[in-house]
Amino acid sequence: MTSEDTQPASSKLWGGRFSGETDALVDQFNASIDFDRRLYREDIAGSIAHARMLARRGIISEGDRDAIVEGLTRIREEIDAGTFEFRLDREDIHLNIEAVLTERVGDAGRRLHTGRSRNDQVATDTRLFTRAACDETAALLRGLRSALIDLAEREAETVIPGYTHLQRAQPILLAHHLLAYEAMFTRDTERFIQARARANVLPLGAGALAGVTYPIDRESVAEELGFDSVSENSLDAVSDRDFIFDYQSAAALTAVHLSRLAEEIILWCSAEFGFARLDDRYSTGSSIMPQKKNPDVAELARGKSARVIGNLVQTLTMLKGQPLAYNKDNQEDKESLFDSVDTILITLRVVTAMLPTMTFDGERGRTAAVANFALATDIADYLAKKGVPFREAHEAVGALVARCEREGRTFEDLTLEDYREAHPAFDRDVLAIDLDAALAARDVPGGTAPARVTDAREAARARLQREG
Ligand code: ARG
Repeated sequence: MTSEDTQPASSKLWGGRFSGETDALVDQFNASIDFDRRLYREDIAGSIAHARMLARRGIISEGDRDAIVEGLTRIREEIDAGTFEFRLDREDIHLNIEAVLTERVGDAGRRLHTGRSRNDQVATDTRLFTRAACDETAALLRGLRSALIDLAEREAETVIPGYTHLQRAQPILLAHHLLAYEAMFTRDTERFIQARARANVLPLGAGALAGVTYPIDRESVAEELGFDSVSENSLDAVSDRDFIFDYQSAAALTAVHLSRLAEEIILWCSAEFGFARLDDRYSTGSSIMPQKKNPDVAELARGKSARVIGNLVQTLTMLKGQPLAYNKDNQEDKESLFDSVDTILITLRVVTAMLPTMTFDGERGRTAAVANFALATDIADYLAKKGVPFREAHEAVGALVARCEREGRTFEDLTLEDYREAHPAFDRDVLAIDLDAALAARDVPGGTAPARVTDAREAARARLQREG
């Protein structure tokens, strides 16, 4: 027998039953190495834990285990250093690593895949990746919340109009507005903590789909890799990608919240609103209009929400027609997961960095906050507190607004006689209703009265500190 006769007809690790090579176009179509190489640390950690367990159970020898662990450790160092050669014809990260390991350590490398399938392997790697992404995203959300709380403290006195229907409605503190976003990002943080808990379940041991035939010890592998538990159903373990959905749905909602905040910043920095200015470091110019200062960072924070939402929809659509158990469709889960993680992390970083550099025009905010009859509710409330039914008070003040509009006047121009013509229950103290009185009057839990906002801010800060 010549050495050529002993060469398998296919060079693939799974090529035993094949009598020829795959088409080059199929190799290209089938391969995921260009993107799943990003999972190499998770893949090597999972393989080391698996090999140690196999040796503990006497399924492989301690010598084989040591050769595997040393070989994988060296491969990890080479990938870290950028000297490892990835090959498209080796399809994915799992086979690239296993092939090189086997080239170097021989039969020990060929024993690593005992009691394991790429199906439970890839699910394990992706869960480890998602778990770390949940932690990193939650940490950056805490940083953003801290920036919002600090800005609310620095701008404790700043007033802006509050809006409904984007029409000026009632005066509010800017800090109250900022803390509304802090509340959204607090719930987002909780969602990533919940996503982490659901992702943190070990699939290894599910094998290809039905479990494995060796006396493995799944619990010890879970413990070594920091998983809270082992999967309960092998079919579910290899085919479920809900944990990616969980991350992406928390990311999509976070991106929507960031987009809404970004939209506020864009409006505030326009000449029409004029409440805020961006620092030069966080704005850009126009190549044709020399006067322009554009809020590109905020616009991208708004625009990038589209791809994070799109990634979520892609995962749902990828899953919806798949029968149990693993199908290669699932290879399509990774790029959208990676993109959601990368997009949300950089957006959180840049928005967090931009916030403290913003400045606010307090005078303009105060002027706008009382313009357009924004104290009308307070004047109606005044009458209602004198015993006038609220609907009657509402109508009287509405008529007063209409009269002022006809005569080109504002509430500040009105005399007590003008008020009395609108309703006899008005007294001199109506003239004391002003911006600060209107703010202070909203003295309920969750309201914009300055003392309430200070309490809310400090409660938010304490909550953040408890989270660590
Ligand atoms: N690259 C594959 C993926 O990302 C790994 C699992 C392949 N399993 C298989 N039976 N072909 O899903």
